[in-house]
Amino acid sequence: MIPSLLPGRPHFDLVGGELCVEGLPLATLAREYGTPLFVYSKAAMLEALAAYQRGFAGRKARICYAMKANSSLGVLQVFARAGCGFDIVSEGELERALAAGAAPGDIIFSGVGKTRAEMQRALRVGIGCFNVESEAELEVLSAVATAEGKTAPVSLRVNPNVDPKTHPYISTGLKGNKFGVAHERALQTYRRAAALPGLRVVGIDCHIGSQITAEEPYLDAMDRVLDLVEAVEAAGIPLPHIDFGGGLGINYNGDEPPKADALWGELFAKIDARGFGDRQFMIEPGRSLVGNAGVCLTEVLYLKPGEQKNFCIVDAAMNDLPRPAMYQAFHAIVPVREGSGEAIRYDVVGPVCESGDWIGHDRMLCVQSGDLLAVMSAGAYCMSMASNYNSRGRAAEVLVDGGQVRLIRERESAADQMRGERLLP
Ligand code: LLP
Repeated sequence: MIPSLLPGRPHFDLVGGELCVEGLPLATLAREYGTPLFVYSKAAMLEALAAYQRGFAGRKARICYAMKANSSLGVLQVFARAGCGFDIVSEGELERALAAGAAPGDIIFSGVGKTRAEMQRALRVGIGCFNVESEAELEVLSAVATAEGKTAPVSLRVNPNVDPKTHPYISTGLKGNKFGVAHERALQTYRRAAALPGLRVVGIDCHIGSQITAEEPYLDAMDRVLDLVEAVEAAGIPLPHIDFGGGLGINYNGDEPPKADALWGELFAKIDARGFGDRQFMIEPGRSLVGNAGVCLTEVLYLKPGEQKNFCIVDAAMNDLPRPAMYQAFHAIVPVREGSGEAIRYDVVGPVCESGDWIGHDRMLCVQSGDLLAVMSAGAYCMSMASNYNSRGRAAEVLVDGGQVRLIRERESAADQMRGERLLP
């Protein structure tokens, strides 16, 4: 039965055999806006945010939404209006955050490869903190800030060398990763930061990976970070804030990650015991705020029975939903209307000319051409990673808020795609 696929996706429910978002039938939205269509529930986003807010109640804390998960302006506005800051990784994300109404001081800038131009723009608008990832970056940032007549607020991203037990492509806190400053070099890198003229040390940060479903990696990383806070402060460099990154997983396929409030209850028990309870805390959650607040609606184009496999060819593809092709990721696929008859095993695939263009393998479905399917857990790292491969226009997006449906992104046209290109004379 379909309901078993829905735990962890609040506000997406089956009502009389019809899949609904906040009580609205998804089929109605597909009819009005076409497919493929991303549909987001504002209530689901705010509910996910509320779990973190409960975890931080009574603490000095700032939640900086990691907007790489979904950087559509309408989504950013929801979080800006709910009081979030933003974790950005590029000038494009900076401009989007500002366009959505973010206060510059609530923006933190992560990433291993910030350019001088990006640093300059971020300094001019006055962002809250640069999360610096190497000594070379410290030198450049100090020079850029000095030339601007400014002092850049910096935090060092330290690499705690903790295994987050997730997919290798999205694990970031191990020694072999390109991210962060090695634990052993952190103190000397802080000394350098404190000595550079264009910088002001304001904190420490770490981010160990993404889609983390276990508690231990977080608890271990917190211990490692607090050890460093002690060592750096003992060397006379105060660290006003501790940024613990993002990474909390969601339910894709029966996964049971810790709840944000419970996890932070555990973390604060440790933090309090070590005497850091009244520090300013920051986090950078992405997926756990939006992942299960969105679905991608797609229409079945053709059923293609085969000798070894049956294919269900849909109008969404790897350019819309790149996670299966990139990470062999699992997304539940649910008929928008319960079919009657016997379910058949299908590979659900898109129209793109690659065998890697699949959305789900071996799914039992009772479908016909023209039926609608909902690809679940599609709020994070889907639209923000979408491409124009095969010159496919990117999908439209709507945000549902109670009875209101707002188109937050138009479907991309062929003309939109060619804008900026020049024909040869
Ligand atoms: N902070 C930093 C520095 C990050 O690199 C990331 C994600 C986050 C925060 C947010 O992590 P989250 O809470 O969303 O796990 N495209 C992949 C995920 C890549 C994550 C990259 N960094 C996927 O689709 O699974």
